[in-house]
Amino acid sequence: MEKKNILWPVESKAQELIMGQAMELLDDVLDYKALMMSYACAIKEINTKFEVLDTEFEVRYRRNPISSIHTRLKSQTSILEKMARLGVAPTRENVETYLNDIAGIRVICSYIDDIYRLADALTRQADIKLIEKKDYISNPKPNGYRSLHLIVSVPIFFAESVKEVKAEVQIRTIAMDFWASLEHQIKYKKHVEHAEDVIARLKECADEIAHVDETMQQLRIEMDSIKEETTGAEALYEKLKKIDISLR
Ligand code: GTP
Ligand code: MG
Repeated sequence: MEKKNILWPVESKAQELIMGQAMELLDDVLDYKALMMSYACAIKEINTKFEVLDTEFEVRYRRNPISSIHTRLKSQTSILEKMARLGVAPTRENVETYLNDIAGIRVICSYIDDIYRLADALTRQADIKLIEKKDYISNPKPNGYRSLHLIVSVPIFFAESVKEVKAEVQIRTIAMDFWASLEHQIKYKKHVEHAEDVIARLKECADEIAHVDETMQQLRIEMDSIKEETTGAEALYEKLKKIDISLR
């Protein structure tokens, strides 16, 4: 039985032409949707990799290096804005070539050394390719912004194909994140009175935060290095507590 066209009946040559064009347009849209799907999957893969590292660390050392993970797929508006800013046509190929941050993963840690530990553990994995690394912690931006940025690619295994997909990973401390969120909000305000003063105060906060991060790090290292005398029973109890860590 012939399938009925419920959208619009093709009765004339003109309608057939429009129908053909609509089909082509929809193919492009679906192609684009498949591209976005691959970025969404890259987010899942990398998110899981960080969750695994956090769980492993918890079981081995009874401490979680990751405080939280936030992920985002770049919106269509932001994609178009960025392509316009770069001055390139927003074709599927150009989007894939020029944008590294469609898949975004932000990892928030308590301590600075955890940032580097996690970055190393991720980039050492056999399937991860490091494309670019920007260390805004050892080289903060002039405004005071600090974070470790990695552009990586990860293979995504689909039913019938494998695709290397790029993602931007930002790793920072809770304090760095606190600062970046306020700075981000201020950046998008159109009319800030005494803008220079605000910029200077933000920079001051960034310096104070950097100092706090370093002191907290130092204190934790000092606490970790204290070797306490334990009785046999206490050592046994410590091991039992490790076994009791709940695994999700
Ligand atoms: P974009 O075109 O913005 O992606 O910059 P880029 O390609 O030069 O990369 P960069 O690594 O410098 O920045 C990437 C992302 O880091 C940005 O999209 C922000 O999420 C974050 N970022 C970078 N600089 C700042 C900053 O000064 N303040 C805040 N709040 N976030 C920043
Ligand atoms: Mg970006």
